[in-house]
Amino acid sequence: MFDQLQPVPTDPILGLMAEFKADPNPKKVDLSVGVYKDEVGNTPVLKSVKKAEAFRLENETSKSYLGLAGNADFNSLITQLIFGEHQIIESSRVKTAQTPGGTGSLRVAAELIKRANPDATIWVTNPTWANHLSIFKAAGLKVEEFPYFDFDTMGLKFNETVETLSKVPEGDVVLFHACCHNPSGMDLNIEQWQTVADIAKQQKFTFLIDSAYQGFGSGLEEDAAGIRLLADQVEQMIVCSSCSKNFGLYRERIGAISIVGRDAIKTEITFSNTLNVIRAIYSMPPAHGADIVATILGSQDLTALWHQELNEKRERINGLRSFIATKFAEKGVPGNFDFIANQNGMFSFLGIDKAAINTLKTDYSIYIVGSSRVNVAGVNDTNANYLAESLAAVLNK
Ligand SMILES: Cc1ncc(COP(=O)(O)O)c(C=O)c1O
Repeated sequence: MFDQLQPVPTDPILGLMAEFKADPNPKKVDLSVGVYKDEVGNTPVLKSVKKAEAFRLENETSKSYLGLAGNADFNSLITQLIFGEHQIIESSRVKTAQTPGGTGSLRVAAELIKRANPDATIWVTNPTWANHLSIFKAAGLKVEEFPYFDFDTMGLKFNETVETLSKVPEGDVVLFHACCHNPSGMDLNIEQWQTVADIAKQQKFTFLIDSAYQGFGSGLEEDAAGIRLLADQVEQMIVCSSCSKNFGLYRERIGAISIVGRDAIKTEITFSNTLNVIRAIYSMPPAHGADIVATILGSQDLTALWHQELNEKRERINGLRSFIATKFAEKGVPGNFDFIANQNGMFSFLGIDKAAINTLKTDYSIYIVGSSRVNVAGVNDTNANYLAESLAAVLNK
C-alpha cells in the first residue's frame, strides 16, 4: 500500500535548521527559524513560566481527561486577553476552546468551516505563513490569495486588497493576521481594519483572524485592536490564537479557538460543532501549557512578571529593527532598509534574490529562507557587523 507514496521534500525552514546546526563556522548566523532569540541567541524559558510550572508540580491533583474544550480557566482568561472587557463576553457571544497550538486551532477552524460550508473558499494574504496553505488544503478547503504586500515599496498594497475583497462572495472566509504579519511585518492600521470590516459587512464574508504574536508588535492591547474593532462590528468570526511566542511555550503546544456568534444561542450551536470537530481529530487537548498560562494570568504577581518579560522581548525586537536599518546603511549595504524599522514583530523581507541568499549561506554561513524573510531576533551585537558587512559584500559584487 505505501509503495505508491512519493518522497516529500523536507520543509525548507526545517532543512535550513539542520544545515545551520551542522555548520562548523563559528561566525554562523541563523535568521531563518521563527522563534524569539535573546542577545546571546538563546530561547530561554520565561521566569513567569518557571514559577507557574513549580506551582503546578506542587498543586496538580489529577491526570484525568480535561474534556473537549480543555482548561476552563485558561479559556476564560485567554478570551479576556484577546478581547479585553468586550461586550461580546458579557452577552455570551464568544466561546473559546483550548487547542494544541495555533496550528491546531487553525486546523479545527478549517474543519468547522468545511462543515458549515463545504464550498467555502478561504482567502489569505499574498504572501502568508506557508503553513496556512497546507492546513486549509489538508482540510479540503479551496484557498485563494488576495494582494497584500508590495515588494516594490516594501509596504502594503491596500488599494488592491480592497479591490479584491470587494468581490469576495458571501459564504467565503477571509484570513488576516491580527498583528506582526508573518512573513512581511506589515500590519493594517486601525482605519484599514475599519475599511475591511465595512467590506465584510457589505459582502457578508466571515473573518478568520490568526493571532500568533499578541504583545510582540506594539503591546498586548494595541496588538488586539483590529480583533476588537471587528468584534464590535461583525456578527460572526473566528479567532485562532497561539501562546507559543508570547509565553515562549512553543513545544508545549498551547493555543485557542474563539468562536464569535450572532447571539448566545447561535454561538453555542457553532461552539458545539467546534467541540464535535475536536473530538474527531485529537479528542482532548494536553494539560501542561494551558495550566501554565492559566496560572500566570490568574495571578497578579505572575501577570506583572510576564508583562515585564514580554515588554523586554518586544523592546528588544523593536530596538533591533532600527539598529539593523542603521547598521546596513553604515556598512554600505546597497538600498534603503528603513522599512525594517517601521514594520512589526519578528519578520521582514530583505527583498534580495535567491542567488544572494545562497551566497550568504555557502560563503558566509548566514542562513535566510528562500523568500528573503529574516527573523530580526536572530541579530545581536556580536553578529550585526558581520551580517551587514557580508550582505554589503554580496550585494555590491
Ligand atoms: C502566522 C502564524 N500563525 C500560526 C502559527 C502557529 O503557531 P503554533 O502552532 O506554534 O502555536 C505561527 C507560528 O509560527 C505563525 O507564524
